[in-house]
Amino acid sequence: MNPQLQNKAPVAATIFPQAFWCHDLISTRDLGPQGVQAVLHLAEIMKSRPSVFQRTLAGKQLVMFFEKPSLRTRLTFEAGMASLGGTAFFVDQTHGRIDAREKLSDIAHNLERWVDAIVLRTFAQDTIEGMAEYASVPVINALSDLEHPCQALADYFTLGERFGDLTNVRLAYVGDGNNVAHSLLLTCACLGSSIRVATPAGFAPSAQIVADAQEIAEGTGAEIELMTDPCAAVTGVDAIYTDAWASMGQEHEADQRAKIFPPYQVNRKLMIKAAPNAVFMHCLPAHRGEEVTDEVMDSENSMIFEQAENRLHVQKAILYLLLGGAVRLPARSAHA
Ligand code: CP
Ligand code: NVA
Repeated sequence: MNPQLQNKAPVAATIFPQAFWCHDLISTRDLGPQGVQAVLHLAEIMKSRPSVFQRTLAGKQLVMFFEKPSLRTRLTFEAGMASLGGTAFFVDQTHGRIDAREKLSDIAHNLERWVDAIVLRTFAQDTIEGMAEYASVPVINALSDLEHPCQALADYFTLGERFGDLTNVRLAYVGDGNNVAHSLLLTCACLGSSIRVATPAGFAPSAQIVADAQEIAEGTGAEIELMTDPCAAVTGVDAIYTDAWASMGQEHEADQRAKIFPPYQVNRKLMIKAAPNAVFMHCLPAHRGEEVTDEVMDSENSMIFEQAENRLHVQKAILYLLLGGAVRLPARSAHA
């Protein structure tokens, strides 16, 4: 843990993110273990003491281009930016790709003259990488076909709130080896945690992402297992996670996938194979009756709305760090 981020209350501390921070958040790999720890630790401080950060991004402006729909990601970036004193502009790009009208580099060189950061939700990861290459301001991945880094950071933050030490947490992801699975793998690796991923044959996570996660795991002690048997994956774990069987952009495959994925449905029968008090997680939106039953979604052990809430706190930490917030953290008074 970076000592500058340690909340040593009641001793006052100043948080200077530039000392360790990367320029963009395109992939969880940009953060690495130290960056992931820093985001989670700062999110914890920001969640418990939001008023301290109210004006830390005053005068800063963010633009968001989304090629796909969004509820949580859009609103948590907008609300997060507002609660730090900054401004966010949303551009609905669902009618066509961002670079359909003009070259990505030309767009980047416009945007960098107007705003302080760019948030992109795209189909192609290349679009986000290209924007980061051309734009001088920070670029944040708000979901691509390949990764959803902000989601997985919020998910592990949520697990940390529930279980404490993340190195002792065992998570099982069952379903499609998609963007969310990829980001969970990379985040788990950075945190030295433990993950099993069970997917049908032919729907495994990207070999490159798995190789990168395993390489990070060698340094952090994380445990990563890939398998096809959902029952084996969930046995004894602390948390079971699933996501849509057909992601945004794969709607035309939904019928075909609906024939393959039913053994991966998270239902009561699957949940009882996990550890006692194991939690259920889903990034949302969920397709009730497909990848998860109502009974599990609405159970006491479902953490879906905690995850959704924490998108806000984690993204505030990301914005603060990328946009160069620097706040002197006052000592807690006896009443704070
Ligand atoms: N989980 C998530 O990213 O939700 P949205 O698609 O609504 O942003
Ligand atoms: N895998 C899903 C995640 C939605 C937040 C998708 O890409 O549609």
